[in-house]
Amino acid sequence: MGQNDKKKRAAQAALEYLRDGTTLGVGTGTTVDHFIAALGARSGTLDGVVSSSERSTAKLRELGIEVIDLASVGEVDLYVDGADEATKHLHLIKGGGGALTREKILAGAARRFVCIVDDTKLVAQLGHFPVPIEVIPMARSFVSRQILKTGGRPVWREGFITDNGNHIIDIHDWRIGNPIELETRVNQIPGVVTVGIFAQRHADVLLVAGETEVRTIR
Ligand code: 5RP
Repeated sequence: MGQNDKKKRAAQAALEYLRDGTTLGVGTGTTVDHFIAALGARSGTLDGVVSSSERSTAKLRELGIEVIDLASVGEVDLYVDGADEATKHLHLIKGGGGALTREKILAGAARRFVCIVDDTKLVAQLGHFPVPIEVIPMARSFVSRQILKTGGRPVWREGFITDNGNHIIDIHDWRIGNPIELETRVNQIPGVVTVGIFAQRHADVLLVAGETEVRTIR
């Protein structure tokens, strides 16, 4: 079974967490695209859908699903999103698609965060996948210099502008022994909007699709 089929399986498994009247947050990425496609028929039973990106909003609207503002509801019951790396402690790296800021807001605003991944993304320690950081454009070089002091190698994602009009730096070569500590430290650098380490607010449930089954880690 290919990676895309596993992503689809993980996405389908997340449908189990929907209830009538759920206010749903929808993440971003190719795994979530499968979730959105599978959502179609169920969307009428939901109370509202909040999106984490312009990309997901467009896909939801294509299916006739109305998208509401987080500001109008304050919280969501359930947030479903993918990840670039995940550990059994439910810590994540996110932001490969560049939507990390709105994703982190939705994760924070969610009563339950269900993360859907294929088994290639389950790792013992975070950091093999470069960690995205969204930065205010004028702070890009300053933040990169601060990151060098932490042992990371910052690479500007040139030409990419986030939905919020900001830039992304991808941090290579970090060995992330303590994700909560590193997330806290990077958050304190002026100009950082969001770091793609999701450890303080980690997933509540991780659905990991393998060759034969979808494993649930809580
Ligand atoms: C986007 C993300 C995605 O969840 C992450 O990049 C995984 O993407 P995919 O499902 O396409 O593998 O964080 O900002």
